[in-house]
Formats: sequence, C-alpha cells, structure tokens
Amino acid sequence: MCGIVGYVGTNKSVEVLLGGLRRLEYRGYDSAGIAVIDPAGELHTRKRAGKLQVLVDDLDARAIANGSTGIGHTRWATHGGPNDQNAHPHLGDDGKLALIHNGIIENFAELKRELLESHPDTVFTSETDTEVAALIVGLEYQKTGNLQLALRNIVARLHGAFTLLVLHRDEPGVVVGARRNSPLVIGLGHGENFLGSDVAAFVEHTRRAVAIGQDQIVTITADDVVVTDFDGNAVETDEFEIAWDASAAEKGGWSSFMAKEISEEPEAIAKTLLGRIHDGVVHLEELDALDYSLADIDRIVILGCGTAAYSGMLAKYAIEKWARIPVDVEMSHEFRYRDPIIDARTLVISVSQSGETMDTLRAVQYAKEEGARTLSICNTQGATIPRESDAVVYTHAGPEVAVASTKAFVAQVAAFYLFGLHLASVRGTLSAAEIAGLAGELQALPGQLETVLEQHEAIKQLAGWMVDTRAVLFLGRHAGFPVALEGALKLKELAYIHAEGFAAGELKHGPIALIEKGQPVFVVVPSPRGKDSLHPKVVSNIQEIRARGARILAIAEQGDASVLPYADVVIPIPLASTLFEPLLAVAPLQIFAMELAAAKGLDVDQPRNLAKSVTVE
Ligand code: F6R
Repeated sequence: MCGIVGYVGTNKSVEVLLGGLRRLEYRGYDSAGIAVIDPAGELHTRKRAGKLQVLVDDLDARAIANGSTGIGHTRWATHGGPNDQNAHPHLGDDGKLALIHNGIIENFAELKRELLESHPDTVFTSETDTEVAALIVGLEYQKTGNLQLALRNIVARLHGAFTLLVLHRDEPGVVVGARRNSPLVIGLGHGENFLGSDVAAFVEHTRRAVAIGQDQIVTITADDVVVTDFDGNAVETDEFEIAWDASAAEKGGWSSFMAKEISEEPEAIAKTLLGRIHDGVVHLEELDALDYSLADIDRIVILGCGTAAYSGMLAKYAIEKWARIPVDVEMSHEFRYRDPIIDARTLVISVSQSGETMDTLRAVQYAKEEGARTLSICNTQGATIPRESDAVVYTHAGPEVAVASTKAFVAQVAAFYLFGLHLASVRGTLSAAEIAGLAGELQALPGQLETVLEQHEAIKQLAGWMVDTRAVLFLGRHAGFPVALEGALKLKELAYIHAEGFAAGELKHGPIALIEKGQPVFVVVPSPRGKDSLHPKVVSNIQEIRARGARILAIAEQGDASVLPYADVVIPIPLASTLFEPLLAVAPLQIFAMELAAAKGLDVDQPRNLAKSVTVE
C-alpha cells in the first residue's frame, strides 16, 4: 500500500519519479505527488488526488523545475480521505523539507498532541499521520542541521509500520529513507541511485539492487549509498541482481495488465518449475542451507491472505496426500491473535506474491518468536517476508501489476507442489517412480493450460451476456473448492458483483436456500476418472440445484458427457488428475471475472478500494 520512489542523480528527477510511480501505481491509486529540488536549490512539490495520470496532466500543464533530487508517492488512503491536501509529500521546517510515507504511524495522535503542546502555533494542512512526521522531522532538522540525524532521532519515537523518505532544500543531492515493517529497496546506478518500495520502481534504470533490513536508515547521493541501523551503526547489506526484465512490467499490446498476466500463466508455471525437476527428481536447492532437517518437522502451517491463502488450501491437499504430514491453512491475520500451538517441529510456510503483506509478515514474525521453522513462497526478490524467513522458494511468475492476482496464484500452487514432492521424497512417503510421475504431470501443465486459454473469446462472450447479473455462486469439492473460492473472489473484486464460493457438499446444509430460478452457478466438476473420484457426487449436487432453477456453468473435463444434460454452458479443460485440475480450471474463472468487469466499463487492473500490496494490518 502506497508506492514510494526516491532519486538522486542527473537533472531528470521528474521523469524518473513519474516512471517509478507508474510502475508502483498498483500499490495505491488514490492520489500521487512528487517533491523535487531544482539546481538553484529550491524545493518544488506537486500533488493531486486521483490516479497518477491526474498528476501527470497537471505537471504537463504547469511544469515544475526539474532537478537532480526527488521523491514521489502514490497513495492508498489510511488517515484522511483521498484529496489533494492529504496526498503526499508533506512539508516540514517551514516548507524546506518534504517527506513521504508508506504505512501507519500508530501513535500519531499522541505525537500531534505533544507537538501542539510544544509548538501551539503549528498549522496542520491535512488529516494524515504523515504530516505529523514531516513536522517533527523538520523541527529536529532545525536542531541538528543534518537530515540523516534528524530522521534517525525521530524514528525511535514512531510506533507502527513505516517507510519514510525525506529530502531538504539545504541538503540538495541527498535523500534519506528509514524503514520498519514496510518495504524499501535501493537501486544502484552509475552516477545515480534510487530508492523504491520494490524493484519495479527503478528496474528500467538498473538491475542492481540492495534490500534494506528492518529498522535501518539509508542515505543516498548520486555516488554513494550508506546504510545504518537506527542507532547509526553501519550494517552489512546484500546486493542482488533483479531477475525481472523491465519490459515484463509493461502492458505491451494487451488491453489490460490482467489480460496479459493471465496469458502468461503457462510461462509462470514453467519458469517456476525450471531447473527444479531433473529426471523426475525434485530438487529445491534453496532448502539445502536449512540448519535443520525437514524430516524432523511433524506439522505444517500455511499462512497467507486472499488468493495466496487459496493456493495454500490446494497445497494442504497435495502435501497431506503426498508427504503424509498434517497441514493447517490459516489466514495470516487470524493466526497470531489466537495463541496458536506451534513449536520447533512446526514448519510455518508463508505464501505471498508481494512478500510485503503486513498480516502475513506479522504472522511470520510471531511464528519465529514462538520457535517455529519458517519458509516462504514468494514472487518478489528483496521483499521483507522472505528476508524474515529461514528459506524462500521463489515463484518465477515475473512482475504482477494488475491488482487482482492471477499468474502468481498458479505459480504459487506449482511451487507448493514442488515442495510437496520434495517433502514426500525426504519422508519416504512416495516412491521415486510415483514422484517422477507426479513431477511429469506438473511439467505437462503449461502446455495444457495453453489450450484452456484458447477459449478466452468464448468466455468473454459468456461474460458479455451476464453483464446484468446481480449474484453468482461458485461450487467445487475437494481441490475444486479453493477454485470456487478464487472464482468468487475474482468476480467480487473486479466486477463488484456479489459472489460466493461453496464446498458443493455444504450446499444442502444451508446455502441451497439461495438458489432460485435463473441463479447462475459455476460448478468445478472433478474428473470422472479414478476410483475415488468425487465426480458422481458433484453431478448429484448439480442436479439438486438445477431442479431448483439454477443455471449451470460447468467447468468439466474434455469429453465428460455426463454433465451435458444438466449444464447450460460447459467450459472444457484437458484431462488432469485431481490435484492438477485446479491449475486448469481457475483460468476460465479469472477470464470470466475480468471480461465481465470490462463489459461493465470497470478498470480491471485497479479495482476500487484495493491496493496490491497490503502493507497495513
Ligand atoms: C486477490 C488478491 C489478494 C492477494 C492478497 C495477498 O486477487 O490479489 O487477495 O492475494 O492480498 O497478497 P500477497 O500474495 O501479496 O501476500
């Protein structure tokens, strides 16, 4: 939530900041603003409510002097509504200092009260917690005359989560940043350096990055980068090369990032598997460095939110079946508040596309404090959650820009399945031949998924017919259940249509009362093959709701004739065994939600009220 970019270099701050904000806009799009110090040492700020384009248009109409030092911000409102006044940057030291912020300063009311007691004439121009920080850093600058020191002296007084970037007219050529529980990454250039909420902010300028740890302060100039802890002690940093290509975060010729990202799902799975399966043997070299044996783990807890948590539900089915170890899946925000039972034999696996979701981060930190082992499945290099975990298995889905997660979901499931097979091998619960067979099925998925995506036009047409629909239900059983939940979530967040996902077996225990004539219900139908297939039970569930007037939209295996008499529409998917079907069945639901939203004229990449990286609790 909220995107932050900082730059010191040559005389092109405005362009660098706006380019960075464009790539970070997925983090928040209520308002945006920049502050730049021009070559004459003057500080200029401009901030506007609305999407980034409003700011860009404003700057086109009324340019500000360019400069070599600047900061920029794109906001997801927490304290105070999305208007020009509350947009960042905020000013301190009589307008000579500008500050931007991502996170929430929990004790801001107390700090404001103290500020008014010591400086009763203080004028507040916004309702934000950030302005209070700008004002007190400004006062500290008046005392110290040193920006790094001023920020360092103040961060100790702040509670909550924050990344702060600050610049001062009297220190042109310097941007100072501080972070606690919110992300900040450095980009290293030649004669220029960058700061960003994530590497997307500067990947078009440099592939060299450094992640900043918890409670650290960074000072960048054009030629230097200095990182210290909050006490001013130098700290070691890890440089890494950004694996993403700048063009991967461009829309290309697609109508939306989401359309592009769905089309990239086969590649997201293939790249996540790449180099990790050799001759039917799964090897995750990231786990080699663990200082304990996975054989000693006796329980797994998977933590995530939203779509990521649904990937964890699929992981539970797979890991329990293959590795015969109990797995619980929990939404991160519920986990640490209920005194969960975990210990050194518990492996807590967090799953997060951004690697910054605050609920998940806090849950991981809690798990560590309680002595649990931690592993993260993450799509973003240099993010906080992998840094806080014992090990990370990266998904290689590439940058996901659309706010609603699509390709990251299938990559997360693929990474979990790799882990499940690896664990089965460690625990000896599957034979080498069984693992090789399942790994082969995993490797076949990208090709199979390509054929599912070929149905995009037909699904778009279906969505077009349903543009006036007020509610849609989604049913699935076993591995189809998380798919139903994900289908419903996508429709809610993109098309603002009431949608619910149910386990098909649960319907008769209450939700079937919702069924009335014409009610559309998507049903994820399991394969009819296999002796334990739930196919007959789901077909019975279909008959029950059809008898009550439901319109059935079935996602079923190619050639499954048994659903034809009962379904109004059938979307066929290729043959795959139970645990692999979800990776084929989810794309039609993603496409449906996206196309229905588009048919309603909605912004599919930036749905209302949302932000991609949820960095507040
Ligand atoms: C839904 C969606 C969210 C995220 C959730 C977790 O389309 O994108 O539900 O999955 O906010 O985000 P990450 O994976 O970044 O932790």
